[in-house]
Amino acid sequence: MTMTYYTLGNSGLRVSRLALGTMTFGKEWGWGADRDTGRAMFDAYVEAGGNFFDTADLYTGGTAEAWLGEFIAERGLRDTAVIASKFTMNMQPGNPNAGGNGRKNILRAVDASLKRLGTDYIDLYLMHVWDRLTPAEEVMRTLDDLVRMGKVRHVGLSDVPAWYAGRAQAIAELRGYEPVSALQLEYSLAERAIENEFVPFGTRHGAGIMVWSPLASGLLSGKYRPAQAGNAGRLDGFRNSTHPGFQKFTERNWAIVAELEKVASELGRGMPQVAINWVATQPGIATVILGATTLAQIQDNLGALDFEIQATLRDRLDSVSRTPAPFPYSYFGPQIQARVTGGAATGDKPSGYASPVLVEGEPASVSTD
Ligand SMILES: NC(=O)c1ccc[n+]([C@@H]2O[C@H](COP(=O)([O-])OP(=O)(O)OC[C@H]3O[C@@H](n4cnc5c(N)ncnc54)[C@H](OP(=O)(O)O)[C@@H]3O)[C@@H](O)[C@H]2O)c1
Repeated sequence: MTMTYYTLGNSGLRVSRLALGTMTFGKEWGWGADRDTGRAMFDAYVEAGGNFFDTADLYTGGTAEAWLGEFIAERGLRDTAVIASKFTMNMQPGNPNAGGNGRKNILRAVDASLKRLGTDYIDLYLMHVWDRLTPAEEVMRTLDDLVRMGKVRHVGLSDVPAWYAGRAQAIAELRGYEPVSALQLEYSLAERAIENEFVPFGTRHGAGIMVWSPLASGLLSGKYRPAQAGNAGRLDGFRNSTHPGFQKFTERNWAIVAELEKVASELGRGMPQVAINWVATQPGIATVILGATTLAQIQDNLGALDFEIQATLRDRLDSVSRTPAPFPYSYFGPQIQARVTGGAATGDKPSGYASPVLVEGEPASVSTD
């Protein structure tokens, strides 16, 4: 396959459309890969042309960052590799300032990540999760300081409310801070909530969306079935979880899995490839972070962009997985638009104007129509 590199958001950083996730590097969390397998997956990804690696201080207690740094160093790839890492999560029980998004933690966390990664800069540094407290002013000013210190090249936000991302980007623009170049969010056929707020925000305001859990933690691979004993993979460990994000075994999701299986069979492709292809080619998506625990899985997933899903098949996936637009998006339809325009014939912009409308197949770009 040929890997295409796109600029991330409005930045000049070129990244491959498929990124390699490292949350599965290490067995500390019970469902990851050992070092040799991690290394083999890294090699397969690099050999396929991938340049974008996603990690976090939290992942497998630091093992993921350490192995990623070692693999990159062993192959002499630091100039080629684009490393994304994240802060927020606390790895020092009892110390409230060793987590969260305050300045004290960000400055501590970045140095710890640089040490584990064995590098002197991180290409993309993201706030991992909104802590519900720290003002966006403090976060954006501190991230800008890190860019000026040379420890970080670009900045991003993961798992935040859209209003917070919008405010953070506005603060960056108005105060001349490093802008938000990336949003990292869960997105898949089973989880489409980001389409209402984040896709319009990202495409209009220069933040490329990095998709996490494109297979809904493995659900969309087809290995789980409604009446199954419970030893298929990672999700079995979450069967009794009370966290809504881990409750993937729902009637709606079983219907999506069933339709995906039929569509994949008509395409002559495996379900994981079709699920990844679908999410990668949705509007506003800059890159999809692949997760895998075996070499065979990553090899399979790296072939996900080698084909097209025809419109009729895409429509079927879309209709089984679409979620109704919540208010106020449910309110903006044709009747309200007719009231807005007084019924006059209107269009978007005349030809030749730059408009922040996404052209399908050109992730996170501003198009000229
Ligand atoms: N920012 C955030 O909050 C956040 C959160 C989560 C993840 N992430 C990032 O996103 C990356 C990917 O997330 P994810 O691991 O949840 O992605 P995912 O693609 O939804 O799930 C990956 C899992 O699906 C199964 N799988 C993958 N490929 C397969 C294949 N071809 N055939 C059969 N099964 C397959 C494996 O599970 P089994 O081991 O059970 O077989 C694998 O570990 C992470 O590594 C991390 O970098 C970010």
